[in-house]
Amino acid sequence: MSQDFLPLNGTDHVEFWVGNAKQSAYYYQVAWGYELIAYAGPETGVRDRASYVLQQGKIRIILTSSLQPESEITQHHVKHGDGVKVLALWVDDAEKSFYETMSRGAKAHTQPTVLSDENGEVKIASIHTYGDTIHKFVERKNYKGVFLPGYKPAKSSLTVKPVGLKVVDHCVGNVELGAMNQWVKFYEDVMGFKLLLTFDDKDISTEYSALMSKVVSNGNGYVKFPINEPASGKKKSQIEEYIEFYHGAGVQHIAVLTDDIEHTVTELRSRGVDFLYVPENYYVDLIERVGKIDEDIETLKRLNILVDRDEEGYLLQLFTKPVQDRPTVFFEIIQRKGAKSFGKGNFKALFESIEREQALRGNL
Ligand code: FE2
Repeated sequence: MSQDFLPLNGTDHVEFWVGNAKQSAYYYQVAWGYELIAYAGPETGVRDRASYVLQQGKIRIILTSSLQPESEITQHHVKHGDGVKVLALWVDDAEKSFYETMSRGAKAHTQPTVLSDENGEVKIASIHTYGDTIHKFVERKNYKGVFLPGYKPAKSSLTVKPVGLKVVDHCVGNVELGAMNQWVKFYEDVMGFKLLLTFDDKDISTEYSALMSKVVSNGNGYVKFPINEPASGKKKSQIEEYIEFYHGAGVQHIAVLTDDIEHTVTELRSRGVDFLYVPENYYVDLIERVGKIDEDIETLKRLNILVDRDEEGYLLQLFTKPVQDRPTVFFEIIQRKGAKSFGKGNFKALFESIEREQALRGNL
């Protein structure tokens, strides 16, 4: 077996570029239970932006907004609305990660750079992926600070109650019609990922719309990127709606892992996080479809949690509504009980639910 030229330790962080990072940070603290751990902005000597670093388990979300009208961040926000700019990957050697991918056809965003402060140094380098999204390689083995040089430790000004989120499970990209295979090839050729799964429009279609999806994974399986593209249907697919409102390809959803989905979802619902509605009839023949499960069906039904089984076990999942006004980025809550797949058996129920929302927005 060939050597992995891009070993990854996992997802380092996900950075959103948003219109009002201060208020977004409040939402993720109060509703989602993320703890504020660091901040960069005018008070710390950063003149053009404010960034809030939030953490729960090993998940780190950075919320950044611009302080200037002409900046790259402002332009990004004008075009895309709130969205994911950076999917950062934790590596042991940022420079090597950069040059290995560059030699295989990556497009540079940021040359290898050393950032340092009194806590040591971090090396970073970035390459472009689909749309205006980038992958940042973060090498932090010589750093003891709370996040990155330039950030100062910060604390939530209110009591934050975590909801049990542990790690990023996978990050999904939506790309334009016909572009999926090109991006799968990018992850295979440039980043050394392997194709894990393919879903075609027969797996994922409803009366109205369809999509195709391929899942790529890095060597150790810590980083998984499903890539979706629209497929033709009677009406506009949810992927087309996303592309139209995001004005291009971008991150569709971030799946976050919990080991107690009933607790996580009960908490999130009580704090006002909106989830997609799943009709009651989904639960009628659930046990016939997925076999015996530990959870009580009535509880799952009350919380609108979906279940799917593969050869290795089962998983529980549900999806939020978009977390900004544009029908673009959302989150998935997932608990895995052996299953390593992505809930293919739920696609139909899920898409019918998404289409009800699309119809309400006049976009179907
Ligand atoms: Fe997902």
